[in-house]
Amino acid sequence: MLIDYYFRPLALHDLASMMELEREVFLLPWSVGQMKDSLLAAHCQAWGLYSELSGELIGFGILSVIFEEVEVLTLSVAKRFHRKGYGENLLNFLLEKSCEAKAEKVFLEVPKSNLPAIGLYKKLNFEIVGERENYYANPDNTREDAILMRCQL
Ligand SMILES: CC(C)(COP(=O)(O)OP(=O)(O)OC[C@H]1O[C@@H](n2cnc3c(N)ncnc32)[C@H](O)[C@@H]1OP(=O)(O)O)[C@@H](O)C(=O)NCCC(=O)NCCS
Repeated sequence: MLIDYYFRPLALHDLASMMELEREVFLLPWSVGQMKDSLLAAHCQAWGLYSELSGELIGFGILSVIFEEVEVLTLSVAKRFHRKGYGENLLNFLLEKSCEAKAEKVFLEVPKSNLPAIGLYKKLNFEIVGERENYYANPDNTREDAILMRCQL
């Protein structure tokens, strides 16, 4: 069952908690500089999902909104909260924000092997519209294909 939660926009003072979550869930986390840039960029919207009870950051997502074109740049949920429905709620919220921005389509890229994320995106009506070969660099120096997905709002 979900505990009570709320969403709020993320700002520079949230950088440390965002990086902690980022490093917990990604093998190749964004750098502090990348995260900071996304918080400062005028075309980006960063949203955190917080526990009402403890105030801790459960998950966050960042959108790039350029005119009516929206891309989900990143989305993550802290490990101990996985498979409880927070990712789905967070992505639904980001899709609402995309509608508010008058977007008709939302795009994202995901590593081909990231089956949890692909499962989530498919559940929320994203479809595969392309592939980018050898797009991501893995920590072991191998490379991995990306899948490009699109959701028609
Ligand atoms: C992807 C991620 C955000 C999903 O968050 P979550 O809170 O665990 O997801 P939810 O509990 O809301 O699950 C929603 C749906 O996603 C899919 N899903 C989630 N985890 C899954 C898993 N381990 N295997 C397969 N499908 C999965 C299912 O379709 C699920 O629906 P269901 O519970 O009815 O089967 C989370 O696994 C995560 O933070 N991963 C690390 C960061 C990451 O890879 N982000 C994506 C970057 S592109």
